[in-house]
Amino acid sequence: MESESYLSYSEEDTRTIGKSFAEKLSHGDIITLLGDLGAGKTEFVRGICSYFSVNEIVSSPTFTIMNQYFGNSPNGEEFTIYHIDLYRINDPKELEEIGFSECMADSKAIKFVEWPEKADTFMPPIHWQVDVGVDEEHELQRTITMMFKGEIQA
Ligand SMILES: Nc1ncnc2c1ncn2[C@@H]1O[C@H](COP(=O)(O)OP(=O)(O)O)[C@@H](O)[C@H]1O
Ligand SMILES: [Mg+2]
Repeated sequence: MESESYLSYSEEDTRTIGKSFAEKLSHGDIITLLGDLGAGKTEFVRGICSYFSVNEIVSSPTFTIMNQYFGNSPNGEEFTIYHIDLYRINDPKELEEIGFSECMADSKAIKFVEWPEKADTFMPPIHWQVDVGVDEEHELQRTITMMFKGEIQA
């Protein structure tokens, strides 16, 4: 399995790592983001959004659950990006209210999911898994691992 790890020493590093990872993404990709609260998953998505020249401020969807952004790749292709944070979901049935399955089925959009385990069996097959690991000894240090999980089913 293809995987790459990077060390981040600041939130800015994490955004830069996200921004360079974004080059690998294509229409329809689903990316799960693993890591503790405050690890830097949302910072990483900020980096992704900057690659896609998203003009809006990227904020944590902890309360809104799902945020949608519109952007463009450097070669001018349009991308819709969903950033979903399932932390506050207590029962997979609540996913229906937020339109989780419809969102995941959007074959053109790129979808980022924090706390994917909350979706249980509603979580479709993913293309990438990004793990943001916190270093116990160094407050600002993170190990970010990106793992390729599968091809897009065209
Ligand atoms: N190396 C780092 N990478 C990312 N965030 C960091 C780093 N060091 C410190 N931080 C801080 O950790 C927090 C990460 O927040 P956030 O990205 O919202 O976490 P998550 O989405 O994983 O819950 C921010 O307050 C950020 O300033
Ligand atoms: Mg977050």
